[in-house]
This record gives sequence, C-alpha cells and structure tokens, in this order.
Amino acid sequence: MQALVSVLDLLLLVMLSGFYPTMTVSPKEGWQVYSSAQDADGRCICTVVAPEQNLCSRDAKSRQLRQLLEKVQNMSQSIEVLNLRTQRDFQYVLKMENQMKGLKAKFRQIEDDRKTLLTKHFQDLKEKMDELQPLIPVLEQYKTDAKLITQFKEEIRNLSAVLTGIQEEIGAYDFEDLHRRVLSLETRLRNCMTKLTCGKLMKITGPITIKTSGTRFGAWMTDPLASERNNRVWYMDSYTNNKVVREYKSIRDFVSGAESRTYSLPFRWAGTSHVVYNGSLYYNKYQSNIIIKYSFDTGRILAQRSVEYAGFHNVYPYTWGGFSDIDLMADEMGLWAVYATNQNAGNIVISQLNADTLEVLKSWNTGYPKRSAGESFMICGTLYVTNSHLTGAKVYYSYSTKTSTYEYIDIPFHNQYFHISMLDYNARDRALYAWNNGHQVLFNVTLFHIIKTEDDA
Ligand SMILES: *[C@@H]1O[C@H](CO)[C@@H](O)[C@H](O)[C@H]1NC(C)=O
Ligand SMILES: *[C@@H]1O[C@H](CO)[C@@H](O)[C@H](O)[C@H]1NC(C)=O
Ligand SMILES: *[C@@H]1O[C@H](CO)[C@@H](O)[C@H](O)[C@H]1NC(C)=O
Ligand SMILES: *[C@@H]1O[C@H](CO)[C@@H](O)[C@H](O)[C@H]1NC(C)=O
Repeated sequence: MQALVSVLDLLLLVMLSGFYPTMTVSPKEGWQVYSSAQDADGRCICTVVAPEQNLCSRDAKSRQLRQLLEKVQNMSQSIEVLNLRTQRDFQYVLKMENQMKGLKAKFRQIEDDRKTLLTKHFQDLKEKMDELQPLIPVLEQYKTDAKLITQFKEEIRNLSAVLTGIQEEIGAYDFEDLHRRVLSLETRLRNCMTKLTCGKLMKITGPITIKTSGTRFGAWMTDPLASERNNRVWYMDSYTNNKVVREYKSIRDFVSGAESRTYSLPFRWAGTSHVVYNGSLYYNKYQSNIIIKYSFDTGRILAQRSVEYAGFHNVYPYTWGGFSDIDLMADEMGLWAVYATNQNAGNIVISQLNADTLEVLKSWNTGYPKRSAGESFMICGTLYVTNSHLTGAKVYYSYSTKTSTYEYIDIPFHNQYFHISMLDYNARDRALYAWNNGHQVLFNVTLFHIIKTEDDA
C-alpha cells in the first residue's frame, strides 16, 4: 500500500501543478482514472488525473463534493456485486471446510483404535486426507479475502458518513485527505474486482447434454469474446478429412438444428482442437503443424504460421489419437497453443500466441507427456490436463504460466458417454465445452478467487 500511495501522491502533485505533458484530457471536469496496468506482482497501477482546484471557490468545492459522493455511491454498488459473488463461493468453501473437519475427527478417532481396523481402511482415509491437505491454505486465504470485503464495506460507509456530514460546513474540511481516501479505496476495490474474475479450478459440475449429433469425434464452440447478445455456435464434426463448419445463431437453433450458415474452409483440418476467438476460427491444417486464422466475416485466411518443432499427425496426440497434436485454446489471458516437441521429450509445451500474427509470444515447457494426456484446457493462464479420455478421467495435473510451476491435482468430472474427444474452457460462459462420444455437453466450473490487494503486501 505504501508504494501505491506514494505513486498516487506523486501523480496528484504533478497533475495539480498543471504539468501533464502527455495527457490529452482536461482534468477540469472531475476525477478520472486511466489505464490501469499490472506490475510484475500482478498489482494494478492506476493513473489518476485530479481536477483543477480553485481553493477559494465554494462552488468548486461543493461540486467536487458531489462528485466524490457519487463516486462513493458507485463504489457501494460495486461492493454489493462483489459481495453477492463472494457469498456464493463462500458457501461452497464452508461446506468443504466442514467436510474436512468431519474427516479430521474421524481420522483421529480411527487413529485412536487403529489396532482394531483393517490397514486398508486406514490407508484409504489417510489418502483422502492427504488430498484435502492443500485446501487448508486456500481456505485460510479465503477467510482473509472475506474479511477484506467487509473492511471495504465499512470504509465506504465511513466515507459516505464523512461526506454527508460535511456537506454543510464546506471549507473546514481537508479535501486533500478526502480525495486521497476515496482514491485509495477505489484503487483497491478495482484491484479486488480484477482478481475476482480469475481463479483456480476447484470443481467441475454437470454435464448438461445440449445435443446428440455427429460422429464420435468433433468440436463445437461459441466465441468467448462475442457480446452477450451474440451467441453463435460453431460445429465441426469429425477429426479428419473435413472442412465444413456449420454455424447456428444460438444454442436454441443449434439444438433444433436450424443452421444459419456453412463455411467451406480453404484447407481441411486435423483433430478437434479448434477455437473461435474474436470472430475468427483458429485451426490446425491437416498433416502439418501450421495454424490457420480464418475470418468468418470475410471467408479469408487472415494469418497462417507453423508452430516450430510441434509434433503433428499423431506424433504427439492426446490419448484418443485423432491427430489431436496441436490444441488451440483461449482463456482470460488470450490465445494459446498446447502441443509437444522432441526438444521437450514429447512433453507438453504451452505457447501464448499473438492472435493477429500467430507468433509465439512466450513458451513454457512442462514435464507432462502429451501422449498420456486425455485433453487439456486453459483457465486464467493455468493449463489443466486430464489423465484419460475414458471413464474415470479426472483433471490430474495443472501448470501455471504465471509462476512456471506445476501441481498434481484431483478434480473428478462425470464422463457421461465414456469417450471425450474435445474439452475446452469458455471464459465468457465459465463453462467447459465437450464432445462426449457424439453428444455435445457443457460442464460448469467453480473457480476459487484469491483476492490480493496491496494490503496483503
Ligand atoms: C457513477 O456511475 C454512473 C453510472 O455507471 C456513471 O455515469 C457516473 O459517471 C459514475 N460517477 C463517478 C463519479 O464515477
Ligand atoms: C470507521 O469508523 C469507525 C468509527 O469512527 C472506526 O472505528 C473504524 O475504524 C472506521 N473503519 C474504517 C475501515 O476506516
Ligand atoms: C477483437 O477484434 C477487434 C476488431 O475486430 C479488435 O479491435 C480487438 O482489439 C480484438 N480484441 C482482442 C482481445 O483481440
Ligand atoms: C451452470 O450454472 C448456471 C447457473 O447456476 C446454470 O444456470 C446452468 O444450468 C449450469 N450449467 C451446467 C452445465 O451445469
């Protein structure tokens, strides 16, 4: 917090002295916050332009006061949204915690008279316990986060009270201090909101079967960057020897089979790992490690590029085969390619791509063999890998590109139709789209949000 306050102070000072060389906006009208950027620790830094102050004018002050009040009211609204969301997650966490406590008690009891118990029983329980252990720090963090939100609420209430209270006696109040408090609160709140949109995968629920159609292998998707109203569905049946994409205006049209368009791609595709992102289809060209960016609007190829060293044509597919060597996906952070190379001994490589040029921006070498992975999907910059495409599959391994570290995890999901040939996260819907043996299904995900603000630093 210290550092941030001084950054704000500095900016305020600069702005107030009328020295803002690169700003094109006039700061006359009120407080504005521009261009939040993330620093190395993932914190947001906001540039603040303060209004010009006429310290003698009573009018100016009451106008500023009105603006501050409005700002604080706006923040109260944001806090309510935040609160609702947190409450929902909190219920889940509390339930988990209770389960853990129950297990702990049972464990202790069993340990007490373990002589009378079968060793296997004991071992099972111990394993379950070990699985749950990593949850403890997460739970602790969650409590801290919930406390933080309560504190935000109190601060907002306090500020509102102060603002309302001084409306009569303008002039006697230290505006500088008030400005600072509002700004600091707003910055922290903004941080909080940003963090809440991302999280760690905790649970997968469902599936809901949307439709039963097509062959055993295929892909279907919506565009995570499309607007709320635009819910077009794209459908690409089979993993080879096909270049026809079917489009539906909505999920409902998809269910009823009311096609709106078909596209014939310039090249056939390989696998089922295509993704639609910001109006374009990204797919792997058959028998190559070339990625193609195809515009649905113009029907043209906007870019194509080979992914250097990436194995293709069943050299490093997922467990189910089907030329699923190069998996394209999108999450909150952008576009990704997941594949394997000889250089990384057939283990999974994650590359972040420039969505316009398809250039690799950065790569991470994991230690997970691609041929032992059932499927993988990316959420908030973390890759999640399943251990199989068959019954009993679970999310088994995760790799965070933020920290370049991996974890073995155990998140089960219901493989209802016994064979999964596509599994992709959609950040807009917060859902996993899957092709489950000729069924198009959706899973919901529960993400755990860790809120960190400067206060924690
Ligand atoms: C408060 O929110 C409203 C509606 O979103 C917006 O028009 C207004 O500019 C906001 N006021 C301030 C001071 O940020
Ligand atoms: C809010 O005001 C009360 C009473 O003045 C004070 O005790 C409390 O610390 C304040 N809370 C915050 C978060 O500033
Ligand atoms: C999406 O495409 C539009 C233009 O079609 C572009 O302005 C925008 O920056 C793109 N968004 C992302 C996240 O790539
Ligand atoms: C996901 O959750 C939403 C909201 O709770 C619900 O409406 C939807 O049916 C769920 N979808 C799945 C696939 O479980």
